[in-house]
Formats: sequence, C-alpha cells, structure tokens
Amino acid sequence: MLKLEELVSGFDPATGTVAGAPATERRLSDLRGCFVDTAAYEAALAAGDPLLYRVAAVEPGRGSGDLHYGVGMLMPGRIGDEYYMTKGHFHARREAAELYFGLSGEGMMLLEDEATGESRMVPLLPNQAVYVPGFTAHRTMNTGSVPLTYIGVYPATAGHDYGAIAKRNFRCVVVERHGSPVLLERNSLA
Ligand code: F6R
Ligand code: ZN
Repeated sequence: MLKLEELVSGFDPATGTVAGAPATERRLSDLRGCFVDTAAYEAALAAGDPLLYRVAAVEPGRGSGDLHYGVGMLMPGRIGDEYYMTKGHFHARREAAELYFGLSGEGMMLLEDEATGESRMVPLLPNQAVYVPGFTAHRTMNTGSVPLTYIGVYPATAGHDYGAIAKRNFRCVVVERHGSPVLLERNSLA
C-alpha cells in the first residue's frame, strides 16, 4: 500500500502547486515559436519574461494501471490577439486519453486529431470536464481575466511528446475577436 501522503495530496490551484510534488514553470521565453504575432512576442519579451503557467505533477505510481495528474495555473494575458497558452503536446503513448477538470477562471482547450488534423476549440470551465481522446494534441488557453486553474488526469504510462508540436505547431489558433475567442486556421493569418 502507498503511504498516506501518496494516497492523499493537497493542492493549491491558486498557485498551481501540490505539497511535495515537483512543479514546472513556463515563462514567455519558453514559448518561442508558439504565437503567430512574432513582433508582439518579441516586444512582450523585451518588456520582461512573465510567468505564463505552472503545473505540478503528482505521480504516485508507475505501473501500467496507474494514474498521474497535473494541477495547472495559467495566467491571463495575450500576445497580439492570441491568449496566453500552454506549449501543448501529444502523449508519447498516443492512445492515452486525458480528463481535464476546470477549477476556476475561463479557458479553452485546442484539440487536434493527429490523423485528420481536425481541430476543435472546447471550453474549460469550473465544474466541467473535458475529455481529451487519445491521438489528440492538446493545448490550453486562458480566455478570461483571472488565472485559469484546472486538473488533468492521465495514465501513468502516457508520457509527453512536445517535439511534434514544437516542429509544426497546431494547425489552428485561438484568437480574440470582438471580446470573444474564435478558432481560425493558422494559414489564414499568415
Ligand atoms: C498532462 C497535461 C497537462 C499539461 C499542462 C501544461 O498530460 O496535459 O497537465 O501538462 O496543462 O501543458 P504542457 O505540458 O503542454 O506544457
Ligand atoms: Zn496531456
């Protein structure tokens, strides 16, 4: 049997931290190449290198049936018309799905099917769950004005593949138009 502290973990969504769990911080400089408006990106970077998000990973076991979860806190803000976002990834074991639960704030998830490229923008809101199927790249955007906090639960064996997205980015972007998030083809903005 796992120890009590492995069975029960206290998380602080306000900061994206979990007692005793490692937290990863991503700053604007870590998201080079993610945003469409490169001039706005460079200008924002020149003014500082703000924290965009923090995610704490809880990994109690590593067996094939085990689960891991991450507590995320994504700051509000925009680069040009694009909302602050996570890097986004596929799971290394492509068939691994994930369940996201919104805790506070307002966000969207961008989902992209690996085989077809079909893209969806789905809301990530408190008291709602978003099912991310296997074989689907996923990225989270904060579309509100306060920090977005959420939990993502995934198989312990899922692994994370950032390489494919870093190389070609998502096919679509989520941008603010007249105060609301809209999904557009990246090519339509070039
Ligand atoms: C785990 C997962 C989330 C993300 C988090 C940060 O599989 O999807 O916990 O890790 O939203 O995003 P990335 O990992 O894309 O930097
Ligand atoms: Zn994931």
